[in-house]
Amino acid sequence: MAAKSRVPVSRMIRMPQPATKVSLTGIKPTGEPHLGNLIGAIRPALKLAEEYDSIYFIADYHALTSERDPAAFRHYTRAVAAAWMAAGLDPDRTIFYRQSDVPEIFELTWIMSCVTGKGLMNRAHAYKAARDRNVEAGEEPDFGINMGLYNYPVLMAVDILMMESDVVPVGRDQLQHVEYAADIAGSFNHLYGSSYRFTIPEAIIPEADTAHTVPGIDGRKMSKSYDNTLPLFLPENQLKKLVRRIPTDSTPVEEPKDPDSSTVFQILEHFATPEVIADTRKRLEAGGVGWGELKNQLFEVLNAELAPLRERYTELMEPGSDLDKYLAEGAAKARERAGRVLRSVRGAIGIDG
Ligand code: ADP
Ligand code: TRP
Repeated sequence: MAAKSRVPVSRMIRMPQPATKVSLTGIKPTGEPHLGNLIGAIRPALKLAEEYDSIYFIADYHALTSERDPAAFRHYTRAVAAAWMAAGLDPDRTIFYRQSDVPEIFELTWIMSCVTGKGLMNRAHAYKAARDRNVEAGEEPDFGINMGLYNYPVLMAVDILMMESDVVPVGRDQLQHVEYAADIAGSFNHLYGSSYRFTIPEAIIPEADTAHTVPGIDGRKMSKSYDNTLPLFLPENQLKKLVRRIPTDSTPVEEPKDPDSSTVFQILEHFATPEVIADTRKRLEAGGVGWGELKNQLFEVLNAELAPLRERYTELMEPGSDLDKYLAEGAAKARERAGRVLRSVRGAIGIDG
């Protein structure tokens, strides 16, 4: 009997390395990116690339449910892509593409519509809210509601499933959409799972995080819908003008001031170093610092932070800039991945070749 070779167990069994999980972020290009987006969305999403294989895409076909102006549609799509790159998105270490450049997504959207219950769509928050608004206004419930809005959750599910995403970082308002993606994946897997199974995605929701909510120039949460934003890439003189417009109370220069009731100070807190914040707080509480001086300080801090981003953004927004090249390379990577999934799905449902 041949002697058994004595290979240590640890050398015989190669321990599987846990594969890095895939995170997918979709960005709807509906307006000029602002400081709130940078602090609350862009920077936290870019940080995920340290931990996950990260995929970012511009969800332009999602914006089409409401954007009817072709020039604005084109502009916001480029502006949002340029903003993310200027803020540090590295297209070599991640996959970054425009949804409309990946036709496989739309073929899969039809396939997945065929395994999605209509009742599920009837219960979607955004659709229900649009109906409620109509009823309240005395209109037909479906007045002005297009099929894009109705089918929005299926397209979003496909964005997620097509890239075999494990996690999807979203705000609380998008949680239902990620749950729907998991549901729809489950329906497919139930029917065809012996041939192909979709990865079931999970949402990552940031904790209710007031520390990351930037106030707008009127003191309410900064939001396009309140028209109170500081857009990220304003030219210097316009940024200065907007900062000057932030309302302040009429406390005279020499009086002590309450930093925490000042919008100017609250915005500063998101951008200045801890030392500068502590020092400014002390000076305000001591009196002798006017609101005008504080606004100048805020402008200087913002401008120092934003100037390099603004420069990169301006370059990328030039026609024929590297932006187009990066998006084309990203689309090729995304299509390669999507093509693989689509071929398996077509085979699973009975379409060969
Ligand atoms: P808006 O309210 O301006 O329409 P969006 O709804 O397009 O902004 O938000 C895009 C992302 O930016 C979301 O993840 C949202 O949480 C984040 N965000 C928007 N406004 C702020 C803010 N003022 N502070 C922190 N994060 C914000
Ligand atoms: N619906 C998302 C929003 O309004 C945008 C989006 C589209 C998205 N497809 C996605 C987000 C896929 C995450 C994953 O913000």
